[in-house]
Amino acid sequence: MITTSGLTKVYRSRGREVTALDGVDLHVREGEVYGVIGQSGAGKSSLIRCVNLLERPTSGTVTVAGQDLTALAGRGPRAGKELRQARSRIGMVFQHFNLLSSRTVQDNVELPLEILGVSGKERSRKALALLDLVGLADKAKSYPAQLSGGQKQRVGIARALAGDPKVLLSDEATSALDPETTRSILQLLRDLNQQLGLTVLLITHEMDVVKSVCDSAALMEKGRIVESGTVSELLATPGSELAAALFPLSGERTGAERTVVDVTFHGEAATRPVISQLSRTYNIDISILGAAIDTVGGLQIGRMRIELPGRYEDNVVPIGFLREQGLQIDVVGQEAVLVKEGAK
Ligand SMILES: Nc1ncnc2c1ncn2[C@@H]1O[C@H](COP(=O)(O)OP(=O)(O)OP(=O)(O)O)[C@@H](O)[C@H]1O
Ligand SMILES: [Mg+2]
Repeated sequence: MITTSGLTKVYRSRGREVTALDGVDLHVREGEVYGVIGQSGAGKSSLIRCVNLLERPTSGTVTVAGQDLTALAGRGPRAGKELRQARSRIGMVFQHFNLLSSRTVQDNVELPLEILGVSGKERSRKALALLDLVGLADKAKSYPAQLSGGQKQRVGIARALAGDPKVLLSDEATSALDPETTRSILQLLRDLNQQLGLTVLLITHEMDVVKSVCDSAALMEKGRIVESGTVSELLATPGSELAAALFPLSGERTGAERTVVDVTFHGEAATRPVISQLSRTYNIDISILGAAIDTVGGLQIGRMRIELPGRYEDNVVPIGFLREQGLQIDVVGQEAVLVKEGAK
């Protein structure tokens, strides 16, 4: 649904150059909620602004719903109308809502419809239907100043939906909100994604946001995507930074002659007594250092950090046993070795 290839953005100001995007290949499938996470300055906002051509990429291409927006933007004024139309099918939600304070809630939602030339009666019908969709039917005549932050963001979302977009872009839509309101806004985005089949690309620096609503995620560092995939692919990648951050496990090794192993259970594997089988089969004592069960991307996943007596070399067979049970096994401290082996 959204594809960028080799996307680069270099800002030039007062003789200085900043490379905000450095060859970004992003692929967001139709109907998914895709989260991009990264530290401040990683290039997240630049990416989202290049996706809807609010910012002109320095090089590379952006395709949304099969249309090459970068090509349209490059064709000069005659393609301007086409580009505007294509952009009206991309909704955008902002961190600070960007509502006009002098306009009522309904008039704020009607604004993009006015720009699209929709007639007064149709505009009003549509705006009220959208406000109903986001749970604000009773606030149509209020002004932004009379709303809470969460309500303002609902107006921002209704406005973003005015052009019947196929794609919704959200840049830190919840970072100005408290945790409870954040949850309700994320739930709304999830509902819209499901009810309207909307593809959502959201930018955040909060891992909890990715955890609660995203089907897929990418990690950005210094203008590049360093990891990406569906949440279950990420969780199945040894040494994945995103997986570790999505699902942190703690527990320190208790001695030098010990092997620490992270075991991840997906689906039905969670209910089998594999740890007691392992203990009985190899006659070893297993300590549980940490464990957690959580829902990530709508999937139930269990994780456990266990410790086996002896060094890694002594535990190759029991670790093989765990792998044979269909469990994902990460030997703590061995990630670098595993990644290298995988790359061979
Ligand atoms: N208009 C601009 N002119 C010059 N440099 C810019 C401009 N916009 C962004 N940058 C620079 O590009 C880099 C990436 O910025 P960007 O806003 O994309 O980061 P971000 O990941 O969204 O960060 P944050 O989490 O703080 O919002 C930064 O070094 C920033 O200073
Ligand atoms: Mg930003």
